[in-house]
Amino acid sequence: MIISELIGRLHPLLVHLPIGIFTLLLIIEVLGSLKLFPNLEGSTKFILLSGIMAAVLSLLTGYILSLEGSNNQSQVDNHMWMAIATTIFYGIYFWWKSLIDSKPVLKWPVLAILLISLVVTGHQGGVLTHGEGFLQVSQRGEENKSWPAPVISEIEKANVYADMVQYTLNTKCVSCHGSEKQKGKLRLDDVKWIETGGKSGKTIDRNDPVSSELLKRILLEEIHDEHMPPKGKVQLTAFEKTILQWWIETGASFDKTVSETGPDSMITKSINAFKSSLSTTPITVKEREEVPAVKTSLLSELAAAGWGISAISGNSNYIRVTSYNLEIPMNQALEILKKAGNNIIDLKLSRKEVKDSDLSVIVTFRNLESLWLDNNDITDDGFRKLTDLNHLEYLNASATELSPAALQELTAIKTLRKVIAVNTRVNEADKQKFQMSAPDLKLVLPDSMHRFPSDTIFSVKAN
Ligand code: HEC
Repeated sequence: MIISELIGRLHPLLVHLPIGIFTLLLIIEVLGSLKLFPNLEGSTKFILLSGIMAAVLSLLTGYILSLEGSNNQSQVDNHMWMAIATTIFYGIYFWWKSLIDSKPVLKWPVLAILLISLVVTGHQGGVLTHGEGFLQVSQRGEENKSWPAPVISEIEKANVYADMVQYTLNTKCVSCHGSEKQKGKLRLDDVKWIETGGKSGKTIDRNDPVSSELLKRILLEEIHDEHMPPKGKVQLTAFEKTILQWWIETGASFDKTVSETGPDSMITKSINAFKSSLSTTPITVKEREEVPAVKTSLLSELAAAGWGISAISGNSNYIRVTSYNLEIPMNQALEILKKAGNNIIDLKLSRKEVKDSDLSVIVTFRNLESLWLDNNDITDDGFRKLTDLNHLEYLNASATELSPAALQELTAIKTLRKVIAVNTRVNEADKQKFQMSAPDLKLVLPDSMHRFPSDTIFSVKAN
């Protein structure tokens, strides 16, 4: 089974041999007829025979590959018959060659037929591997397609499948399971394909919905090989997963509304989160207001204190600040940095003994967009002060005392898009809840399967 699959998979590679050889043959034939390079003509029979042998190999591997089955069986069949016909044409040409050579008029139409059948077969194969329309550059890349968001005015009347499930599949799955690519021989872009299923059969098991392939795949841990979407790709949010699961477990109806499907309070929360995720407008590229440049004298004062300063770009007065080389206490260092407060976009204060009181100064850096506070003894009292930073997009709060309550308060910062909270009091269960109320904010917690060594290493005090 494995060997035959491997042989089949060689097909897309092998087909280039007969295509190349036959193309070379046609070129030599044309050049020969035009009396250019006449001495090449002696090699045509040999080239033709090699091409036919390569074509037969391609036919065999292609046939084995076709046994794996496809969503487009008729396309596969057409390709197969065309390939067989092409091989036979070239075979016939081999026997007829001497005949045609004596009747030069026949030669051009025969060469044309050979070329056309080669191109058609190759193109059919290309469509099978790359998807329809692969020659039209603009039609490629379903990943970049923007899907029209469903309009949900009343949640109870929304159609679970059409308004929520299909949109989720479109945005998270169809780039690999659509008209262009059918990974696992599965398409998820329409009712009929969802019903058809994929390589391992039905995707949704109507007799036993809970063991449906689709459900199993999305519920697996992300690091699992069969998890969908595959590791590293854009993942389903907690609420999308909840909605898909609810839809399948209630029988995967294609026409029931929300109220007919009977949501409980958890589901209703997820649907609300889904709905609000549709209406959020993406943040546009921000126009930063102009700020005066930091004076040279101040720059040297900052450098002397140990602050690392770099410009964000050649034509901007905004700066990034790092604290790696800081030697003086944080409160003194911040008093100096305060003088350039409006210019700071990025501030890295990892592992620098930052205290809650220091955050009263940091919050005056009103243009701050990224802030690293990880590995410091900062508690909720400190984090709460940050809510006034209304340009903040990124916050690293790992290895601090951040709690779920303070995190919730930080969502008041409308621009905030990402919070890293590894080794804090926020855990996976909080994350699930949190994602319902702040679907746009990406919260990063430790991967539940990859414990940090520091979580388990502890020391015993000697008596
Ligand atoms: C980046 C590409 C990619 C994305 C995105 C993706 N998949 Fe897949 N999927 C694959 C590949 C590759 C396979 C085949 C390998 C395997 O079976 O794990 C597959 C297989 C499957 C199968 C098994 C098909 C069968 O019958 O064997 C299911 C079900 C599935 N995906 C569901 C989904 C769902 C649901 C989503 C969206 C939430 C999704 N996939 C998103 C690449 C992707």
